[in-house]
Amino acid sequence: MRAVIKVDRTNCCIFNNSLSREISELNGVYGVNIDNYKNEVIVDYTDEVNVDEIYSKLNENGYSVMPGQFFGNADYISEQDNFKNKAGDWDSPMKVEMAKKFVSEMLKNINLGNENKVLDYGCGTGLVGMEVAPLVKSVVFLDNSAAMVNVLENKLGKAFEKHEYSSENIKVIIGDINKYITKDIDVVFSLMALHHVEDIQAAFEHISANILKPGGILVIGDLKEENGSFHGEEKVPHNGFNIPNLAQQLEFSEMEVITTNTYNSIQKNGNEYEQFIIVAKKQQTN
Ligand SMILES: C[S@@+](CC[C@H](N)C(=O)[O-])C[C@H]1O[C@@H](n2cnc3c(N)ncnc32)[C@H](O)[C@@H]1O
Repeated sequence: MRAVIKVDRTNCCIFNNSLSREISELNGVYGVNIDNYKNEVIVDYTDEVNVDEIYSKLNENGYSVMPGQFFGNADYISEQDNFKNKAGDWDSPMKVEMAKKFVSEMLKNINLGNENKVLDYGCGTGLVGMEVAPLVKSVVFLDNSAAMVNVLENKLGKAFEKHEYSSENIKVIIGDINKYITKDIDVVFSLMALHHVEDIQAAFEHISANILKPGGILVIGDLKEENGSFHGEEKVPHNGFNIPNLAQQLEFSEMEVITTNTYNSIQKNGNEYEQFIIVAKKQQTN
């Protein structure tokens, strides 16, 4: 994949050569080009990259990344993108309502303020993250579907133009959660994404060890165990969740479960499906 990162201004060639070398040496990067005319740093990378290392290298070398940068190529939508046929009309009134209910339930259980850095895991078109953005310091939107992120980017672009949000503290990443390693996130939240994730234990361990600050919080909203009918013909890795089992997986990932609650029910195809929220806290020390 290729990321074209706009910076405020590029430096002279010798300086650029050393920055290129530093970025090239990062895991997963196989090409770096710096365009002095367009003030762009162009990075070719594989799935193994950790994008925050690239942002850090740019910052360490005195480059200011322009606000609202997107990392990944949402123009390229692969055949394997499970959401490519759904993204365009994702934002139905029902989904918008579902996101609002989740945010409202989350805010009953945790405090979010303008000092908090948050990450929306499986953000899709950003229904949850965009609702939360005005309340917090910064939001990282992360999703592995370029099609969904494409819709999000268009929405963010319009919102930035209308000054509804400040673009400075918004980052969008197309990819898997293991691309993100910062240990400075106060709250990771995720709505209806977890049942699409194969290896939940690995995701929890990564979030706990590499993303959350000590004392940071993970909030998940998803379906309670169902008979597989929610997705119709489509097969997903998990037909909802058994809450005690999920809680145990969180505890195995060094997180303490603080709250579980069934907060919503959805009518779909003549059936009723319940949604739960689970809030877990990473230990204070480490
Ligand atoms: C059902 S949608 C929910 C989107 C959004 N959270 C919402 O509530 O509208 C699930 C999202 O999770 C994303 N997803 C699934 N597996 C993922 C993974 N391993 N890493 C990142 N995103 C993932 C999908 O691409 C999709 O956008």
